[in-house]
Amino acid sequence: YLGNIPMGKPDPILGINESYKSCTDPRKVNVCVGAYRDSSGMPWILPSVKLAERRLLDDPSSNKEYAPIAGDGKYVDLALKFAYGSDGDIVDLSNIAGMQTLSGTGACRVGGHFLSKFVPKPPGLSRVPIYIPSPTWGNHISIFEETNMDVRRYRYYDYGTNRLDYHGLIEDLSNAPDGSVILLHACAHNPTGCDPTMEQWHDISELLLSKGHVVFFDSAYQGFASGDAEMDARALRYFVSRGHKVMLAQSFAKNFGLYGERTGTISVVCSNPNEKMAVLSQLKLIARPMYSSPPIHGSNIVRTVLTDPELTSMYYDNCGEMASRIRSMREKLVNALKEVGSLHDWGHVTEQIGMFAFTGMSADMCDILTAEYSIFLTRDGRISLAGLNDGNIEYVARAIHAVTDG
Ligand code: LMR
Repeated sequence: YLGNIPMGKPDPILGINESYKSCTDPRKVNVCVGAYRDSSGMPWILPSVKLAERRLLDDPSSNKEYAPIAGDGKYVDLALKFAYGSDGDIVDLSNIAGMQTLSGTGACRVGGHFLSKFVPKPPGLSRVPIYIPSPTWGNHISIFEETNMDVRRYRYYDYGTNRLDYHGLIEDLSNAPDGSVILLHACAHNPTGCDPTMEQWHDISELLLSKGHVVFFDSAYQGFASGDAEMDARALRYFVSRGHKVMLAQSFAKNFGLYGERTGTISVVCSNPNEKMAVLSQLKLIARPMYSSPPIHGSNIVRTVLTDPELTSMYYDNCGEMASRIRSMREKLVNALKEVGSLHDWGHVTEQIGMFAFTGMSADMCDILTAEYSIFLTRDGRISLAGLNDGNIEYVARAIHAVTDG
């Protein structure tokens, strides 16, 4: 049977990353995958993370036992506090069902499975609809299709103005059948870097409440976006304070630099302890036949950092440092484009937030950047700002200028 297996398509993000690795052009630049690089282009282990790892190594009680199916309970509690805030006025953490997951992807996958099983199908539909922004992180589509949800799109970005398509968003979510699942990026929307304002979040919340939609937040950049973890959690906490029983996929890949450690959570805000126990029991039933229990190294690190006030404060500094280097690259890219003679209005790039510049370049332009300049980026015109540094920014700006004005 093996001879009949068709070749699968390379992943639109990680596949390009592989092509970068095998490229032999000394000028090559990787602005494809959203992974932090320091100012010399190297991956960075946060000093607070390194210290936590040392402590774990020296801790005689450390072991390599299986985690429970739902993961390390202490880690989950700390992770939920990090996301929802510890202020009981906003949300009673004791009513949140939380489970450790394999980073944000694992959280979306388990969450999607849960929703597809338990959200009542709107009349006339055979599957639970989930509305995902257009555009979104490419993997969302595959994840929710794999969980047998009916993946639909809502307008999010206006390519004419290079800004949020707020009216399109409101129209599409108003037209979605009542009781649909709506996926929202909690902050630093990937790939556009374009978030609703707090006023817009208010109106979106109002609309979703009136339609009985189920809110699914994906939070991959808390702290990493603005440098302030509280600020980046504002939309999520606001929704919870207004009574949405949200589901949250939380990742520690970017903000703790724990990419390969696969560290995250899935959580559901419930109304009472009975609901919470039932939800958690079902999440565990999904995880057990899928991967049994989560890996422990990343969650041990996050737990160690967030239990020790000194490490926590060091961590916030480290996270702020990453956010501020990325912000400075955003400014520098736009300045470099002007310096090399680009007459385009790049104002949207400086207005965006988070890891990426969503440039507005077409797929053809991206292909030329890769073929002729060995600059590796996703074909939607997204540039991972972390891949830029003082050594390559002028080269990248010249190349962008050549393909956009050439
Ligand atoms: C990205 O968008 O580049 C990251 O979230 C990495 C990934 O897994 O796609």
